[in-house]
Amino acid sequence: MTEVRDGLAEIGRHYDERTPIGEEFREGQLHMWYWYDREDEATLPQAVHRVTRKVTDTLGLRPGEHVLDAGCGPGETALFLARQHGVKVTGVTVSGFELARARGRAEDAGLSDLVDFRYGDFMDLPFPDGSFDAVLALESLQNAPDLGQVLRELYRVLRPGGRIAFSDFSLGEPGEPERVEQFMTTLKLPVLPTLEEWLGHVRGAGFAVEEFTQCGPRVFGMKGKYLHAAMGQRDQVAGKFGEERLAEFSRVHRGFFVPRKDQIGYAIVCARKPR
Ligand SMILES: C[S@@+](CC[C@H](N)C(=O)[O-])C[C@H]1O[C@@H](n2cnc3c(N)ncnc32)[C@H](O)[C@@H]1O
Repeated sequence: MTEVRDGLAEIGRHYDERTPIGEEFREGQLHMWYWYDREDEATLPQAVHRVTRKVTDTLGLRPGEHVLDAGCGPGETALFLARQHGVKVTGVTVSGFELARARGRAEDAGLSDLVDFRYGDFMDLPFPDGSFDAVLALESLQNAPDLGQVLRELYRVLRPGGRIAFSDFSLGEPGEPERVEQFMTTLKLPVLPTLEEWLGHVRGAGFAVEEFTQCGPRVFGMKGKYLHAAMGQRDQVAGKFGEERLAEFSRVHRGFFVPRKDQIGYAIVCARKPR
């Protein structure tokens, strides 16, 4: 029990420390980008928003539905869902910084009636069975200490016929495992499943997989474009947070860039709880 609490607190601190600058670069979101090729002129926030749209489009949301944003980050995604689809969203995070930021965002946007954020562990949720029409986990399952357990918990809180969509890193081409280890340590990933293994976990929890894609070359494969785009924003970010904090942010993220482009994939999966 103490071990579980310590693990959660560590993940919470990880995001408390990294989210402020991370979200500044991406206008309130905290996940990867999607660029078609090196000539693609989308900005970093636009490229990040493409992932949001690609993943959430698979859910087929209808106005009035209730969505759980499991690992909601600083809240921008939930606001987008409420505005775009007229859904109610409940977001959970284990970061105190993210929670305060997400609540502030909802209030500023006048969306507090549709969007609610709380501190909560997606491994053990405080919601009755069948509470939600849809679950979104945008790059958050990666931190789960047990993928089988978290997927069974998300299955439990979905109504029969409800959908889950998530995106996350996957293990790509083999070789040079030490590079992948540095990536995993930097991002605090207990495991890095292949796409097939991700699908196995989803099916193992009882879901029927309806759609999946592997777009690693347009995501991790575009890390050079990210670095270029981030350099373009660096002075503005340094002006807000200070050179020292930005240097520390860059230092702790060095391991993220270590794998070869083909070693890290990016999976998008949508599945349904059978009726
Ligand atoms: C990479 S961030 C993604 C945030 C957000 N989904 C987005 O795309 O902007 C991972 C998120 O997962 C959350 N998270 C990690 N472990 C969690 C847990 N056990 N329960 C709830 N949230 C968790 C973190 O607090 C963080 O908000």
